[in-house]
Amino acid sequence: MSEEGPTLPEYLGGITKFLDAYVATSPTGKIELFEGMQKCAYNGNWKYQLENGVDPYHVGSLHASAVTPEAMHIYRQGNRLRDGHRRSWRHRSYRLGANAGGCEPSGGFNLVIFPNLVVLRSQIRTVRPIAVNRTEIYTNVVKLQNVPDEVNIRRMRDQEFEFGAAGTFFTDDIEIFERTQEGLQSGAVEWLVFSRGLDREVMKNGYMTGNMSDETQHRGMYQNWKRLMTNYTRLPCPRRRSETMQVERPEIEDFLYREARLLDTRKFEEWAGLFTDDAIYWVPAGRDDIDPTRHVSVIHDDKAAMAKRIKRLRSGFAYAQDPQSRVHRLISNVELGATDDEKQTIEVTCVMLLIELARHRQTFHSARCEFTLDRSSGSWRVRRKKVNLLRNGEVLENTPYLI
Ligand SMILES: [Fe+2]
Repeated sequence: MSEEGPTLPEYLGGITKFLDAYVATSPTGKIELFEGMQKCAYNGNWKYQLENGVDPYHVGSLHASAVTPEAMHIYRQGNRLRDGHRRSWRHRSYRLGANAGGCEPSGGFNLVIFPNLVVLRSQIRTVRPIAVNRTEIYTNVVKLQNVPDEVNIRRMRDQEFEFGAAGTFFTDDIEIFERTQEGLQSGAVEWLVFSRGLDREVMKNGYMTGNMSDETQHRGMYQNWKRLMTNYTRLPCPRRRSETMQVERPEIEDFLYREARLLDTRKFEEWAGLFTDDAIYWVPAGRDDIDPTRHVSVIHDDKAAMAKRIKRLRSGFAYAQDPQSRVHRLISNVELGATDDEKQTIEVTCVMLLIELARHRQTFHSARCEFTLDRSSGSWRVRRKKVNLLRNGEVLENTPYLI
């Protein structure tokens, strides 16, 4: 944990008492998680899930297919905590018989721990912003200690039924998140106004409190968001560039894409022209970290060997490439590593997925590629390319093309 910033109790503030109450639903005062998690995603902003996490207002209209009329009475009161976390009361009781251990099996309220944790009955959701219009939700199911198995299993089945990727509630929520995202792209609405209940919310026992259908909790969340976005302390982050050797990620990515495209389109001579005269093109065999001077490789070419390999492919007699393979190389996970200011080089790694179609058969190779790129001549060139095939310890199929 960082030395700077608030402590965890300071950060949690008023939500602590509700977290304690949540955990106290377990007879031992401790909770566990079931194995595994559900992973869902939607094409929308991460904040929709937070708004949704304690918003009873939408339930009546959106979830009419999932909520029984007699259950609607539970959506009557909502509270917002002063520190921007939010809580929504939600009385839910199951009648599981005397064996329920006196606990409320699925908890009694929802919590949002700003910015990305949602505690919703028997679930804990982690909100993962992927892009401005893409969010992933990882959901764990909470297990109580010292209660009959039927109670915990009931909690899990309920959460699967209502909130999993095929859940009776959650599927509609996600649909609305995506429609909201699309709607807001129109530009027709400049501001979204969260003023419902503003005139009637009051401080009560240290918590800003409103009616359940009010947007008290949304105002709390956005006040906290604004505070963080306008008054934050910049955190140290890994340097992606050298102090003296300025390297931008897009130029490296463009170079790697070009290298892959030249191979895909069989412009082998142009591809070889990207390499320095002392370059090495290496595909280890057996494992990634072999010493190529002591251990056999699949390919370990210098520039002259590369030229010979290309000449063979052009000869008209390379039968393993007649007909020619059609190949796509997908480059991803590009990471910039160490730079050498004197040599003007940078270490780069990426992941490549190679898809080959030959004689009606499609095959795949995945590899983590390591490059030493050299800019000493003024433009980027390859000084070393190492292709660590995922399957390099397995029996390899015929790979008559340049990898
Ligand atoms: Fe919902």
